[in-house]
Amino acid sequence: MRKPIIAGNWKMNKTIAEAVELVRAMRRDLNAIESVESVVCPTFIALPAVADALAGTKIAVGAQNMFWAEQGAYTGEIAPGMLAGLCQYVILGHSERRQFFGETDEGVNKKAHAAFKHGLVPIIAVGENLAQNQAGETDQVVRTQVTGALQGLSREQVASLVIAYEPIWAIGTGLNAEPAGAARVIGVAIRGAVAELYDEATAQAVRIQYGGSANAANIADFMAMPDIDGALVGGASLKADSFVEMVKATARVRG
Ligand code: PGA
Repeated sequence: MRKPIIAGNWKMNKTIAEAVELVRAMRRDLNAIESVESVVCPTFIALPAVADALAGTKIAVGAQNMFWAEQGAYTGEIAPGMLAGLCQYVILGHSERRQFFGETDEGVNKKAHAAFKHGLVPIIAVGENLAQNQAGETDQVVRTQVTGALQGLSREQVASLVIAYEPIWAIGTGLNAEPAGAARVIGVAIRGAVAELYDEATAQAVRIQYGGSANAANIADFMAMPDIDGALVGGASLKADSFVEMVKATARVRG
């Protein structure tokens, strides 16, 4: 019922030329896979060229962030209306945004409302840090983040968006979470929070990805968990062969 979604978060990598080269190398293979949705999230400046290179394919494009205001005196920021037409998705609240740029659940919530206003689907990232994990606070942390991010959104909006569960200690470290453990956080804590805030149908509709050192070698183990609806991929999304293999492996397990 929930179509798996594998999204590549390129972070601050790739020039415009390199970004176009990467999508050209992947587009034929990715477009041939029906049962999995693929998304690439380049930097803002590469969005137009990447969108162009993917025109006419089923591969979706996402931004990595945006501001919530419509326009105005916000030096260095990008408005939601400027992204409309260039991409379908926008990652909101990635832990690197929270850690290095001071993003809060309240800000993520404003951005989620602004995204829907402009027809963009948020991919909302949540996850605990190592200390919280070791203190047994994971469920509480992700519940608080999910509750804060979804404030005031309608059932339909929540059912249509994507949540990425990304334990911070697993991001870029090569230490991926154990698939069964990630599936428990996703199925019990996150889907449970959505069910409490909305209802069971909404909780069953929302797609929830895993993120944090997911790669071609471990993706099948994550996708073997029915509660995990795909992955938000950093490092392994920067090479055509590994990203394509992740989407193919997902199709093999779930297609
Ligand atoms: P990683 O990053 O796959 O390089 O760990 C994931 C993410 O931050 O989205």
